[in-house]
Amino acid sequence: MLPVRRNLHFNLNSSSVSDWHEQGPYLTQFINAMSIFFPEGERYFIHTVRQYADRVTDPDLRKAVTAFIGQEAMHGREHDEYNRLLTEAGLPAEQVEAHVAAFLNLLKEKLPPAAQLSVTIAQEHFTAILSELVLTDPRLIAGADRRLSSLWRWHALEETEHKAVAFDVYESVVGRGVRAYMLRTTSMVLTTAGFLGLVLFYQQRLLKADDQRRRTDRQSRGLGRFVNFMFRSPALLPRLAMPWLSYFRPGFHPWDHDNRYLLEQMSDLVAEAEGYRREAA
Ligand SMILES: [Fe+2]
Ligand SMILES: [Fe+2]
Repeated sequence: MLPVRRNLHFNLNSSSVSDWHEQGPYLTQFINAMSIFFPEGERYFIHTVRQYADRVTDPDLRKAVTAFIGQEAMHGREHDEYNRLLTEAGLPAEQVEAHVAAFLNLLKEKLPPAAQLSVTIAQEHFTAILSELVLTDPRLIAGADRRLSSLWRWHALEETEHKAVAFDVYESVVGRGVRAYMLRTTSMVLTTAGFLGLVLFYQQRLLKADDQRRRTDRQSRGLGRFVNFMFRSPALLPRLAMPWLSYFRPGFHPWDHDNRYLLEQMSDLVAEAEGYRREAA
């Protein structure tokens, strides 16, 4: 599977990003917090893969690495735009992003390159399983306007398309032995806890600013609907659990779960983005 870099623009507008999920502000700000995480996160992924790029000898994997870097750079650019609109809407996206950057810089400073890459492959797996849910269950981004929906589905599709690239780099440079297994699985536990913990923390910051901005009362923030969404319907966390656990199988590979049929949606998305470009012209 060779990923392809696609230079797509979604021309979002501010009203579509600050208050959009049909399940209310709690869920909106949970997903917005992920968007704020992405540009710095993606620059971190690129950095960790690039550190090993010279040691990759397989020509197909080298091409895949180039495309992976190109895709993540495009995601970063479009999420920067999304996050700029959050700032314009009065939400503290810049402060949250500065916190993400400081945290990831600390990882770059303190961890050896193999451990840095193990964080990337853990996060790439987490993103890939989340992406499959976005692409198969419309409730995940229900309420998004068409541009925001296209942006999230495009990102999810490309995450699916390149889900094994960083993992293959890891196996080719760190190996498949016991030490490589211990490092990637330990990283998965810490990375998931760190990522979810930070996203929930950022969600609270965004909600607080959103309350002040709109004077929302506590009732209408949708905490009950958020908890329901996470645990009962569509039950985000239980549905992530099994594919998350599959990562702990020795010999695991991201394409053991073959969901490439989802990529058939890509041509529709390219056409949608082309439509937004024409509308903006
Ligand atoms: Fe991405
Ligand atoms: Fe990715």
